[in-house]
Amino acid sequence: MNFLDRLAIPESAEHIELLRVLLVIVTLLFVIYASIALVASTSAAVAEWLGRKRGDKNFSKFAKDLADLAAPGKGVILALGVLPLIALVLIYVQLLYGMRIGAAGYLTASAIFYFVGFYFLYSYKKSFHFDSIYSTFRSLASATGASVMPEIAEEVDKFERSAVAVRRRGGRRSAILLLIGTWLFVGTTRLVLTPARWSHPVFASVVFSGDAIWSLIDFIIAALVITSASVLFFFFRWEKGIALTADTSYRAFVKRYTLPVGITAAALEPILIFFQIQNLPQSGVSNMTFVIACIAMFIALLVMLLFYSMLKEANVYLGSYAFIGVVLLVLAWAAKDEIAFHYATQGQDQRLATRYQTMLASLSPGTVAPVMSGVEIYNNICSACHMFNTKKVGPPYFMTLPHFVGKMDSLEDFISNPYQAVPGYPPMPKQPLKPQEVNNVAQYIMGVYLAAKKAGKAQYTQ
Ligand code: HEC
Repeated sequence: MNFLDRLAIPESAEHIELLRVLLVIVTLLFVIYASIALVASTSAAVAEWLGRKRGDKNFSKFAKDLADLAAPGKGVILALGVLPLIALVLIYVQLLYGMRIGAAGYLTASAIFYFVGFYFLYSYKKSFHFDSIYSTFRSLASATGASVMPEIAEEVDKFERSAVAVRRRGGRRSAILLLIGTWLFVGTTRLVLTPARWSHPVFASVVFSGDAIWSLIDFIIAALVITSASVLFFFFRWEKGIALTADTSYRAFVKRYTLPVGITAAALEPILIFFQIQNLPQSGVSNMTFVIACIAMFIALLVMLLFYSMLKEANVYLGSYAFIGVVLLVLAWAAKDEIAFHYATQGQDQRLATRYQTMLASLSPGTVAPVMSGVEIYNNICSACHMFNTKKVGPPYFMTLPHFVGKMDSLEDFISNPYQAVPGYPPMPKQPLKPQEVNNVAQYIMGVYLAAKKAGKAQYTQ
């Protein structure tokens, strides 16, 4: 996704810190909303199907209320789903600039699935509202003594049939699209946390690696906890609750289906967090992530207890606490991943900050930005990762330069646009060099190599 890379601008170290805080906040909003959208739309489709099959009105009403929860309105979808996702993509583009692991591309693909999914979800929710228009029409018609013209009644029937068909499709489609979007999203965020996989960031591993599938299961279970708490909170508490006016049998129905799911998922959560810490990529482990993970486990247990006491006693007010608990849980989860990400990409931050310094220098008035000589560039930039005779972060030059003898153009191409070349090494990040500087450093390292070769001193150790 080169065009996305062009959106990245040089940033100072302070800005990068700011972006990381922003990443946690935006992730918090998005994960909560995306979880509710995924689970509530899937459950609505299932509840609607059950309602039709069993002729149980409660299921149909539950389906409608779930669709309302998943897609309260265009504004909410925009504010909690669409905008945070765009912000997330842009933040990752910025933080991973020049790393070429394809994360921005996968995230964009995920965003497209989400957006289309949100669109279907919204029309799905809308279709329920048509229903109430039809039933109002019917009751009006019967109240006025069936004086409605037959053509109009027929027309209404036709519309209703097509609305129901659209709805069935809409529910299923949004659930499937949101699931694919989630899968890509979760797979990419795992890839970003795992430097060991950056040398081969293939699509298949983003979706099908054990790591990605585990994370997807993690996400779905967390999403079940989040949605259960949201149902209890928004149905019963928020602005007096959607379900408060409803009959008691419906309220009991909602609790009967929501609480056991919430309890089971919340009980699994600490176990999953435990395994997540075990599997955290080595570079991402730190004491801080460990502490946060323990806090997350504790909150998950607390949420489970709240659900449980709601099941035993009829205390729906606990729904508010469960919802707050869930928000804290997601916050802990986002913070933990962010810290792991921070550790995984430490070197990257330094490079971004260097790039910013270079840009500042080139902007200072009156000075024509100086061009560095080959040896300066080697000492200031390349030597951080390369030595001539031994392996550092990158391969020893004495090992790779023989391929480039007589091919200075290819060497310059590689330096200005590095690609995956030597097996067993991570990709080389793009360096902020002017064309003249690329030429200088290529001449310099080749010169050193040829001189060493002539003197019979071009041996290297791997
Ligand atoms: C942040 C670490 C890092 C920096 C800085 C860095 N490199 Fe690299 N370089 C690598 C890695 C890692 C590889 C192996 C890349 C691969 O195989 O994809 C590599 C590979 C190379 C290769 C071998 C390419 C091949 O096809 O065999 C050359 C040449 C090279 N770098 C030159 C440079 C020059 C010149 C600079 C300074 C302008 C530089 N590198 C700065 C990490 C770095």
